[in-house]
Amino acid sequence: MKGIILAAGKGTRMYPMTLPVCKPLIPVYDKPLIYYPLAVLMQAGIRDILIIVPPDEMYSFIKLFGDGSDLGLNITYRIQKVQRGIADAFIIGKSFIGDDDVCLILGDNIFYGDCLKVCLNRALTNEGTTIFGYYMDDPRPFGVVEFDESGKAISIEEKPQNPKSNYIVPGLYFYDNSVVAIAEQVQPSSRGELEITSVNNAYLERGELNVVTLDESFTWLDAGSAENLLESANTIMKIQQRTGKQVACLEEIAYDMGYITKEQLLSLGENLKNTSYGEYILTRV
Ligand code: G1P
Repeated sequence: MKGIILAAGKGTRMYPMTLPVCKPLIPVYDKPLIYYPLAVLMQAGIRDILIIVPPDEMYSFIKLFGDGSDLGLNITYRIQKVQRGIADAFIIGKSFIGDDDVCLILGDNIFYGDCLKVCLNRALTNEGTTIFGYYMDDPRPFGVVEFDESGKAISIEEKPQNPKSNYIVPGLYFYDNSVVAIAEQVQPSSRGELEITSVNNAYLERGELNVVTLDESFTWLDAGSAENLLESANTIMKIQQRTGKQVACLEEIAYDMGYITKEQLLSLGENLKNTSYGEYILTRV
């Protein structure tokens, strides 16, 4: 399975904060926002990763991750010239995806929870497509999934005025290879975007959509506005202080997943030695 991070959002809704640096690179507490979605792909066992970036910013991403080999990954980059919507990621990533299945994660989504690995495994072993459902008091700014009495998904609407449920669809999607052909057929919505909800509805119509609900102990954050970014940073700080463990420490995950050796982990920790993040890495062996 291939992985794509859609990190092309300049973050215009967060100006002037994102004028000097695009949204996926701004910090959430102690690490760049993009660390959090990358950590999810890594924990899903995905090592071939395409990062879709905004124009003029590719160098900053390369400075951060290079070709990914330090983390035992294979990272490549493509530019999204015009923000045409989430489904555009599959058109931009067509040759990268090739004949494989693909997992897409949004560059401003943060997932944290004890059941994350179990949920990822369910998605990886399910046939076809798996998306997730997460309870929100106000689901209106998101994709909203409706279930029937047996718990089967029966509709998905993008940013509905009158939501049919409180379950939103967070930005983590597992698709089979037909997603490329489906994305190529999607027509722009009234806001001019190729909506991911249109892709999910195509799978729903084929009877091939699995929706896994994330339980209430799970934390999902969309750091796409100044308020949400601050809330995300506070949440991450509290989790790390409470548990004594880092959220989205990429070096630790790479080691735990067997992508890098103990020597490589120690060397990565040494490079960041005078920081609490670096010290944490050195305690992981
Ligand atoms: C996008 C998707 C929406 C999804 C959300 C998750 O919304 O369109 O379906 O629930 O991401 O973050 P947008 O970020 O475009 O408002």
